[in-house]
Amino acid sequence: MSIINLEMKETALKRIEESTNVLEIEQVRVELLGKKGTITELSKKMKEISNEEKREFGQKLNELRDSIIEAIENKKEILKNIEQLSKLKDETLDISLPGRKVNKGGEHPITQTTNYLKEIFMNMGFDVSEGPEIEKTEYNFDALNIPESHPSRDYQDTFYIKENEVLRTHTSPVQVRYMLENKPPFRMIAPGKVYRSDYDISHTPMFHQLEGLMVGENISFANLKAILTEFVKKVFGETKVRFRPHFFPFTEPSAEMDVECVICKGQGCRLCKNSGWLEIMGCGMVDPEVLKAVGYDHEKYTGFAFGMGIERVTMLRFGIDDLRAFFENDVRFLRQFN
Ligand code: DAH
Repeated sequence: MSIINLEMKETALKRIEESTNVLEIEQVRVELLGKKGTITELSKKMKEISNEEKREFGQKLNELRDSIIEAIENKKEILKNIEQLSKLKDETLDISLPGRKVNKGGEHPITQTTNYLKEIFMNMGFDVSEGPEIEKTEYNFDALNIPESHPSRDYQDTFYIKENEVLRTHTSPVQVRYMLENKPPFRMIAPGKVYRSDYDISHTPMFHQLEGLMVGENISFANLKAILTEFVKKVFGETKVRFRPHFFPFTEPSAEMDVECVICKGQGCRLCKNSGWLEIMGCGMVDPEVLKAVGYDHEKYTGFAFGMGIERVTMLRFGIDDLRAFFENDVRFLRQFN
């Protein structure tokens, strides 16, 4: 019997040959080889055929299927290439055009300096801690031995949220929080944002400080000098430093630390107001009243503390003479630090 004949093959191959695009050839494939396709239907006839003819039928069917599959694959490949070529012809691509520039962001100089200072203290064994920017007056003032009458409590300098809650005016309350949660000996720093109701050429209502505290047995002013002198050397290189007596409610004795002016090297200039020195931080031995406030044995433990303005350190590091540059976010300024 000859259900399968030459004519069938020719018809199928002709259908394939005449397809003009990839979509059409896919339709033809379904018509011939799909679930209800001609070839599939044909193979269902197998069971109606006598045993003697089965072998020949099977062979012919396979041959037919193979040649159809091959023809479809070939045609598909050709059509794909043609479609691609015509697509390329339509798309005019000028490979000599310069590429689009990607603008890369970078860390703000204040962030860079903060990370740099953290790194230095971490290498000297200091733990890094943080506290909230909305702070209890109890931690911002009372526990730090700042009396009711102290001018820094004034409503003019401090942003009050409630009667007993402020935007912290310094990072020193993190000292209190850290001491309440840790036992001496320890050394820690606390960088962060602080707020004061102040706005002029050299003051902004928000700025950054880095606080430090080291408490243990037999901690002395000599330890303070050693650590802070080493710190200054790391940031500003080999340079002269000096400690000037000062007053802070939370340290006794207290000092301000100066470095030799980075501009005039001590000769006197506008930046150092002709003194040859630049103040870079406040420091001192932790006042026993502060140790008492957090329940430490002030007979057994002593400590030193320090606090510096990160904007100021950044200005001296990079030779920036206007504080406002940090907050205006002019990309021409910021890009210089990428
Ligand atoms: N909290 C002080 C301020 O904001 C800075 C300061 C001075 C912090 C002396 C200290 C210190 O820890 O010992 O001006």
